[in-house]
Parts: sequence; structure tokens; C-alpha cells
Amino acid sequence: MFKTRRPRRNRKSAAIRAMVEETTLSVNDFIYPLFLIEGSDKKEEVISMPGIYRYSLDLLLKEIKKCVDLGIRGFCVFPSLGEEKKDKFATEGSNKNSLYIQALGKIKAQFPNIALMTDIAMDPYSSDGHDGLVENGEILNDETLAILGKMALAQAEAGADILGPSDMMDGRIGYIRNVLDKAGYTQVSIMSYTAKYASAFYGPFRDALDSAPKFGDKKTYQMNPANTSEALIEADLDIEEGADMIMVKPALAYLDIIKLLKDNYNVPVTAYNVSGEYAMVKAAAEKGWIDGERIMMESLLSMKRAGADIIITYFAKEAAKILNK
Ligand code: PBG
Repeated sequence: MFKTRRPRRNRKSAAIRAMVEETTLSVNDFIYPLFLIEGSDKKEEVISMPGIYRYSLDLLLKEIKKCVDLGIRGFCVFPSLGEEKKDKFATEGSNKNSLYIQALGKIKAQFPNIALMTDIAMDPYSSDGHDGLVENGEILNDETLAILGKMALAQAEAGADILGPSDMMDGRIGYIRNVLDKAGYTQVSIMSYTAKYASAFYGPFRDALDSAPKFGDKKTYQMNPANTSEALIEADLDIEEGADMIMVKPALAYLDIIKLLKDNYNVPVTAYNVSGEYAMVKAAAEKGWIDGERIMMESLLSMKRAGADIIITYFAKEAAKILNK
């Protein structure tokens, strides 16, 4: 007879399993990314992201309503611009009359209770397709900050709740915080893309926004996937500079980094479950090779278990339906 402990006793029935469950997913955890396009009555599916669409504002508002009815309260909107609207300085990014800035105001007016997050980076508006200002093939850091500051201000004025600098320039959080505070937007939050890796998992997103770099890659500003301690440097700086929330991106291949930041800092940690992660699950499920729904829920749970407080995910709507059952 062995007198060992028997962990299986805590798994013997659904009631006991539920009682000892350590991690729970909730609709409250989700931020749903949405893609905005020009025009009206337009809805185009992103080819590499089945179930995800680019919406004109009228239909985007209807989509938000459906999500709100499912209990989702966090949204992050990304604009998709025609090539003719792009230039070297990403001017359209801070144009008050632009599609994006106007849309932010209208979304917030119609849904005052949601948490509306934005994206701050030059790439959707840049003719070079980079997150920063390009000069002779180099991405300039400090010159980019001024442009990001203007984008931040326009977004705050439009009524955004959380600004999301995704550009990875040095010093951007402090710069943006200062611009916001000086203009009186002390209540506007910053969620920093703190540990954003130079990843192949962003492919489908760049298809959706047609925002791939026109030359080179993003390795001089996004982090090397081989690095861990560097994430601590980024987090130290972001928090010192005033980030309210920090983020790890992508999520699934970087669960160790999520855990690292959660264990070392007291601010909320977000996992960005990116486009490529979504596409892989959808593609394999379409082929009948995996159970897409179960893999979706298991992946989202793993991000929470690793320490994520918030999950930005294209699965938000589908997962909300399951959680509401
Ligand atoms: C742009 C930005 C990117 C994503 C969010 N903001 C792409 C990139 O850095 O190239 C990726 C999101 C995703 O893949 O789902 N700065």
C-alpha cells in the first residue's frame, strides 16, 4: 500500500474541479481589436483572418453594439488607409478631420461606457510603412516622438480612454505623458506596448491594414525574440515614464515574458494575442485538424494563467459567446 498524496481526488468530479480551479477567464478581460475603413456600408473580410472584417464606420458602430450586448467593454480600433493618404510624416495620424480621429469621437459619443483604446504608431499612415520617421534608411527616434505626441493629443481630444503606443521608440511613454498632461488630459491612460517583439506573427495584421514596411524590417526598434532581460529594461522605463498598463506581444510564444512582467511589476499586464496566432488556429480548425473552439479557450486561459490581467484578442467575440453560455 502506498500512502502518497493522490492529486486525482481533486479532479474526481466536475463540482470539485470547478471548486479548485485556479484561473478563470472572463469577458471583462477582453479588448476586441477592430479595423476601420473609409466609406459606408462596407464590410470586407481579412483573408488571412476568417471571421475578422474591416468595417466602414456605420457598420463598425453596429458591430460594437453586438459586442457590447455580449458583455465586451474594451475595444481597440485600427485604421486602414489608402496609399494616397500616406506620407513620410504620417500627417494623417494627427489630422482632426481624418477618418480615424472622427471615428473615435463618434464611437465614444455612441458608447460612452466602453473603454476605447487607440493605436499610436506611424505605420498605418506612413508611406514607408515603418512605425517611426525614416531618413536614409534609418528609423529616427527623437524626431518620431514629436509626431507620436501629436497623434496622442488628437486621439485624447477625440475622447479615447486608453492610448496604445505600439511603436517601440525610446522615451515615447514619458514624451506622450508630458504632452497629455500639459494639455490637461491627465485622465487619459497609456497602455504601453512594452515588450513588443520583432515577430512573424504580425503578418495577417499587416495584410489587414496594408501596412507592411516598404523596406527592411522592424528589428532596430522591436525586440529580439531571443531576449528576456531586455523586457525588464523596457518595463522599468515604461513604468518610470508613466505607463498605466504594460503589454507583452505576441502572447502565446511569449508566455514566459508575461509571467516575468507579472512577477516583477505591480501594474496590470496585457497579453496581445496577435493576428498570426488567430490565423493559425482558424486555418487548422478549417482543415478539421484541431478543435478550434477548445484550442481558442485553452490558449486564452494559458495567457491568464501566465499572469495576464487583460487580453487583446480577435477571439473576444467568439469567446464571449462561449463564456456567456
Ligand atoms: C503597428 C501594430 C502592429 C500590430 C499592432 N500595432 C503591427 C506591427 O508592428 O507591424 C500587430 C497586431 C497583430 O498582429 O495582431 N504598430
